[in-house]
Amino acid sequence: MNFRYRLHGLVAIAGLLVLATGAPAHAQTGPVKVGLVLSLTGPFAATGKQIEAGARLYLTRHGDTMAGRKIEFVVKDDGGLPDQAKRIAQEMVVNDKVDVLGGFVLTPLALAVAPVASQSKTPAIVMSAGTSSVIDASPFFVRVSFTLPQNSVGVAEWAPRNGIKSVVTLVSDYGPGIDAELSFKKRFEASGGAVKEAIRVPVRNPDFSPFLQKVRDEKPDAVFVFLPAGVGTQFMKQFASRGLDKAGIRLIGTGDVTEDDILNDMGDVALGVVTSHHYSAAHPSPENQAFVEAFKKANGGKRPNYMAVAGYDGMRVLSNALKATGGKGGEPLLNAMKGQSFDSPRGPVQIDAQTRDIVQNVYIRRVERKEGELYNVEFDVMKAVRDPGRGN
Ligand code: DHB
Repeated sequence: MNFRYRLHGLVAIAGLLVLATGAPAHAQTGPVKVGLVLSLTGPFAATGKQIEAGARLYLTRHGDTMAGRKIEFVVKDDGGLPDQAKRIAQEMVVNDKVDVLGGFVLTPLALAVAPVASQSKTPAIVMSAGTSSVIDASPFFVRVSFTLPQNSVGVAEWAPRNGIKSVVTLVSDYGPGIDAELSFKKRFEASGGAVKEAIRVPVRNPDFSPFLQKVRDEKPDAVFVFLPAGVGTQFMKQFASRGLDKAGIRLIGTGDVTEDDILNDMGDVALGVVTSHHYSAAHPSPENQAFVEAFKKANGGKRPNYMAVAGYDGMRVLSNALKATGGKGGEPLLNAMKGQSFDSPRGPVQIDAQTRDIVQNVYIRRVERKEGELYNVEFDVMKAVRDPGRGN
C-alpha cells in the first residue's frame, strides 16, 4: 500500500466516523458548557437567582467535573422577555457552543427557546416553566421543575374534605395560571366542591384590590390562588388590608404563593394558609436538611425555594447522564437524561422516559411558625404524581 493510498483510506475512515457520530460540533474532551437562560433583572429576577444559586451549589457540593469533563456555566439575562431569551439561546448555541441549555423562568421564555433547542439538537433542561404543554414544545426538553396541574390537584382534593365547598379561583392570566385554574376546578368539582367565579389577573404589576373586592362580594369559603414566584407578598398584604381574612374567607393555592424565598417576610397573615406543592424548605428528610444548610451557607443565609431545587436537580440529571454516556453530548446525552430516578431534596423523583416530564410527590402543607420563622409544614402527601394532563 503506498502512502497516498493509505492517506485516502484514513480520510475515508475519518469521514465515516463523522457520518456515524454526527458532525463533531460538540468536542467530547474539553469542558461541558451549560448555557443558563435566566431572568436576572425585572420582576422575576429572584427566580433566576434562585435557579443559578441552586445549579452552582450542585458543583460546590459534588465537584465541578462530571465524567472527567469540567462544567462551565454560560449565564445570560433574558430580562423576562421572550425575544431576548431566544436571542441569547441562539448566541449560546452558535457562539459559545454550549452542550446543554437550561433555566427558563417563565413559560413564554421556554416556548421562545424551544425551536433553538430543536434545530440545534441541544438538550435543554427546563428548571421552572410549569405549563403542562411546555414539554411538547421541543423533543430536546427535559423538565426537572413541576407542572401546575400536578400542584393544583392536591389542594383540590383536600379542600372539600376540610369544610371548603365553594371557591373563587384567582390566577395570573397566562399558561400556568390557566392550567392551575382548569385543573383545580376539575378535581375540586369532582371531589364535591363548586367554583363560583374564575378571576384572571394581569401577569405584570397586578393591582389585586378590585379582584379581591370581587372575591369578597362572592363570599366563598376560600379563594384558590396561583401566582408565579415572587408575587405572593404583595397579594398577601392586599388580602389582609381588604379584610378578606376577617371576613372568614380562607386562602388556599399552589405553593408558588407561599414560596420559601419570601414567606418569612409575609407576617402573620400567611399563618394557616394551605397549599399543595412539590417542595418545602421544611421537608424533613436528611437530604433536604443538608441541602438547605449548604444553600444558606453559600448564599448569605438565604433560604432556597423550589426554583433552587430545580437548578440543583438539573445539574444532577446532567451529571448522571454524562456518566452514562462517558462524557458524550448531543442526542445520547438527551437519551441518558430520560428515565432517571433519584432522591432529590424534595423527595423521590423520576424523569418519565416517554414524556420527559417530572414525576414527584405532591405535599399538602400549612404555614406555621417554627422557631420564630414561617414555614410550609407538610402534613399529607400524594405520592409519585404524574402531570395530570394539559388544560384539564
Ligand atoms: C411559572 C413561573 C413561576 O414563577 C411559577 O412559580 C410557576 C410557573 C411559569 O411561567 O411557567
